[in-house]
Amino acid sequence: MPASHRIAVIPGDGIGTEVVAVARQVLDAVSARHDLTLTYTELDWSCQRFLSEGAMMPADGLETLSGHDAILLGAVGWPGVADHVSLWGLLIPIRRTFRQYVNLRPIRVFDGVESPLRAARAGEVDFVVVRENVEGEYSEVGGRVNRGFPDEQAVQESIFTRAGVSRIADYAFELAATRRGQVTSATKSNGIVHTMPFWDEVVAERAAAHPGVRLDSEHIDALAAKFVLQPQRFDVVVASNLFGDILSDLAAAVAGSIGIAPSANLDPTRTYPSMFEPVHGSAPDIAGTGVANPVGAVWSAALMLEHLGHPRAAADVVAAIESTLADPATRTADLGGTAKTEQVAEALLALI
Ligand SMILES: NC(=O)c1ccc[n+]([C@@H]2O[C@H](COP(=O)([O-])OP(=O)(O)OC[C@H]3O[C@@H](n4cnc5c(N)ncnc54)[C@H](O)[C@@H]3O)[C@@H](O)[C@H]2O)c1
Repeated sequence: MPASHRIAVIPGDGIGTEVVAVARQVLDAVSARHDLTLTYTELDWSCQRFLSEGAMMPADGLETLSGHDAILLGAVGWPGVADHVSLWGLLIPIRRTFRQYVNLRPIRVFDGVESPLRAARAGEVDFVVVRENVEGEYSEVGGRVNRGFPDEQAVQESIFTRAGVSRIADYAFELAATRRGQVTSATKSNGIVHTMPFWDEVVAERAAAHPGVRLDSEHIDALAAKFVLQPQRFDVVVASNLFGDILSDLAAAVAGSIGIAPSANLDPTRTYPSMFEPVHGSAPDIAGTGVANPVGAVWSAALMLEHLGHPRAAADVVAAIESTLADPATRTADLGGTAKTEQVAEALLALI
């Protein structure tokens, strides 16, 4: 019997709708080849919906999603809707309710994609940022007092739990064991004197439980510089929510373009659906012009196939991505090419 999965699709805003359309075509092609059945529920949850109905998603939105095996998301955000509304009205509730505590962001320099860095050659840069995705610096604890007065104050608390740090560290160590066996932990224990020494202690404790993996720890400022100067030296980089957010965008830029960067929001326990989305946003500056690079969304779809237990189908998609990037005729403008979204889609489908 063919394997079948129910996928909730949230194209979102701007180029999110354009790149997800390509990812779906690629998924259909690769599913046909690998005897998989994917059934989709397409959801119009977006800033457009917020403007017409007052909410990014319906009140029972999370319940709707919970009936699916995975979620494929494009991007949300649009001028006229504050970014914290689109983030806290959709993405953050999904990540938190479904305990997607791992944010996984693979980085590779591909043949044909020029990194802005002289030292980064194809094949040599291949690492993964594992970002803690549900606690840390992005917390709801805090508040504002004395609004509008000269003594106005804002307080924002960070929340680091032993359970939260342990499980993200374990995920990083287990992932490194399947790769080159090296974990780099991002810290700032010299300046942030409570949470970061705690992070370091718990990561070191978990390292002891994974003797086959090497651990080093770097302050976030030095680590940012090393991403630029020596991107080849990294295998798995584990970081708190804020540090991981910043590092993964930096890493995507190091790899040549944010247009190719994928991400997975994972509940490794598989109790809830995980969510797969390109790193980029809705790009209002190019939306509707047909030039968006669909590779980030298509690579995210490949991560989804892998998570659903279909590594061979995922590998076919990644191989097709490698071929289109290696060919100047199928590179989009963000990579210095002239191909339109549609031409990349056609090339990917032909390869699969
Ligand atoms: N996860 C998400 O849904 C997500 C992530 C980031 C930003 N956003 C939202 O997207 C909106 C725009 O944000 P932004 O401009 O800071 O970031 P962005 O990623 O949308 O765009 C940044 C730049 O990169 C270019 N770019 C991005 N993706 C591309 C692609 N696939 N192909 C070619 N070029 C591409 C854009 O044209 C733009 O110049 C905001 O509302 C923001 O909140 C959403």
